Amino acid sequence: MAGLIERWRDRLPFGPGDPVVSLEEGSTPLVPAPTLGERVGAEVWLKIEGANPTGSFKDRGMTCAVSAAVREGAGAVICASTGNTAASAAAYAARAGLTGAVIVPEGKIATGKLAQALMHGATVIALRGNFDQALQIVRELAERRPVALVNSVNPYRLEGQKTAAFEILDELGEIDALCIPVGNAGNITAYWKGFSEMGAAPRMHGFQAAGAAPLVEGAPVEHPETVASAIRIGNPARWEEAMAAMRDSRGAVAAVTDEQILDAYRFLASREGVFCEPASAASVAGLLVHGAPEGAQRIVCVLTGHGLKDPQTALEQAGSVVPCDADGEAVERAIYGEA
Ligand code: F0G
Repeated sequence: MAGLIERWRDRLPFGPGDPVVSLEEGSTPLVPAPTLGERVGAEVWLKIEGANPTGSFKDRGMTCAVSAAVREGAGAVICASTGNTAASAAAYAARAGLTGAVIVPEGKIATGKLAQALMHGATVIALRGNFDQALQIVRELAERRPVALVNSVNPYRLEGQKTAAFEILDELGEIDALCIPVGNAGNITAYWKGFSEMGAAPRMHGFQAAGAAPLVEGAPVEHPETVASAIRIGNPARWEEAMAAMRDSRGAVAAVTDEQILDAYRFLASREGVFCEPASAASVAGLLVHGAPEGAQRIVCVLTGHGLKDPQTALEQAGSVVPCDADGEAVERAIYGEA
């Protein structure tokens, strides 16, 4: 399967001769979720964005942002990140032969994401501060230095990410509602752009973690906190656009607690066979807690990142292993209990 610039070139700002930096991202699985559907009384589908090359939806935006950076002659890329943008930027920079620097909140990004950014050779700065401060710093730095800023304030990021909406419409025709986690608010903005360009208008339901819910509270959160580290953001860059998307589509923004997020996280893994990271489960937590939007029969939940990104949270939430001697009968007893 081709990468997304190739697949959707006529709807993207890239000409036939332009350089393309791709890892064959996009074209991710759209999987029915019958157990979830039964619980909420609607047809529910999961858009598995963890199946992208670096394990998150960021690759959709990054193929476009890094391709544009190469076209513009940039030698380096930079971003602030809660982890996934860092992993994706590092991979696409490596692919393009650019240097990459990523600024992450110290101690607050999941292990898998850190391993990825380091393995791809990016300079990883652990900021003694949060994501919002990191974004402020890289925005200023990108003004002083010749470096491409690849956060979702970069319009190419949204161009790439809007293609997920195209894929959903391609497979399902119409849908009634989209449930999606909201952090820096780029992705919900991108989906709405994608749907709008195709003349579709599903209700956009954004979900934030209760400890990091500026859009719900209507004011920036100075010290955001949540187990869903990917969306631990207190002052989203795409605030106005995200609110407009939800208003114009007759959707809504709502909060889900860490407990509700973790319930949905375990439910998806144990009942639907789909392992996503905690932030991603916010979309499903929102659907479970707040119910299907009125009249919505066909709903898509976006699962933004792979569960393996955050093995620590998984091990804390899952059952424990069963230690056993290397003996057939002992194994049998361990599995089937005492005879
Ligand atoms: N889900 C995951 C797994 C994410 O990594 C992010 C954002 C979101 C949802 C929210 O998307 O910011 O467009 O509203 N992660 C960014 C990062 C902030 O740095 O990796 P958004």
